Amino acid sequence: MSVNEYFEANRNLWNQRTAVHKDSVFYDLAGFKTGANVLTPIELKEIGDVKDKSLLHLQCHFGMDTMSFSRMGARCVGVDLSDEAIKLAREINDELKLDAKFICCNVYDLLLDNRHSAKVLPVGEDLGGAGAFDIVFTSYGTVGWLPDLDPWAKVIAERLKPGGFFYMAEFHPVVWMFDDDFTHIKYYYDNKEIIVMEDQPTYTGDKNEITGKEYSWNHSISEVLNALINAGLKIEFFNEYTFSPYANFKNSVETEPGKWHIKGMEGKIPMVYSLRARK
Ligand SMILES: C[S@@+](CC[C@H](N)C(=O)[O-])C[C@H]1O[C@@H](n2cnc3c(N)ncnc32)[C@H](O)[C@@H]1O
Repeated sequence: MSVNEYFEANRNLWNQRTAVHKDSVFYDLAGFKTGANVLTPIELKEIGDVKDKSLLHLQCHFGMDTMSFSRMGARCVGVDLSDEAIKLAREINDELKLDAKFICCNVYDLLLDNRHSAKVLPVGEDLGGAGAFDIVFTSYGTVGWLPDLDPWAKVIAERLKPGGFFYMAEFHPVVWMFDDDFTHIKYYYDNKEIIVMEDQPTYTGDKNEITGKEYSWNHSISEVLNALINAGLKIEFFNEYTFSPYANFKNSVETEPGKWHIKGMEGKIPMVYSLRARK
């Protein structure tokens, strides 16, 4: 299979997931519409003030995190592979009269030299060229959908202004090593295999029938850090957390408000990491 066929399968998966997620208790779109900021305490504390900053959000899903930044005063652009997610994000943005912009594309299509990409950005939807953003942001469930982190890091470095920063908060690769029920180690820690799953229900706890194959890749911490360093960015901090801010894994238990662990492993494994890297 070609890499574009993996992306097409994943787009189909995320389109189906979007239809489930928009009505889920997990995403609580109704709460967002009435003013909730859906960013977690981790990124809110670590990113700080975004007022009047230009912010590019990679893999924004249907945009609630992006639009939370808009409400905080940032000028945001969100990009995502799923056309259904971007359609929904635009609808929400219009309904709430916010000023975020949303573009449907593959992260890799943002490379300034995308001669090797089959796709180009839709006409009129360019991102302002090189160095247009103060902040590039991505969070929770993103890099695992990308086979190669070197071009991803290049996209980030190209789109940042000199002095701007990249921030990410992401599930820890250790968590992705386990089987779904967290009974045993099933997958490699690093990027040695394509992980193929079929007809997997989504993570929001809703009854749903998602069909089709999905393709993902585990990335070790060193792979993430080295991709960013090799793209010319300077790592300013790197943090690890032994809880998840979301109840998105099976057998999750909440030990304190907003701190979720895998039952039986409370506090023993890293579940999330975050970092800031500056251009
Ligand atoms: C788990 S969401 C991450 C966002 C956020 N944590 C959330 O839950 O709303 C993952 C998103 O990555 C997007 N995605 C997957 N592969 C992508 C790619 N190659 N380029 C751009 N977006 C991609 C999916 O469409 C999905 O919306």
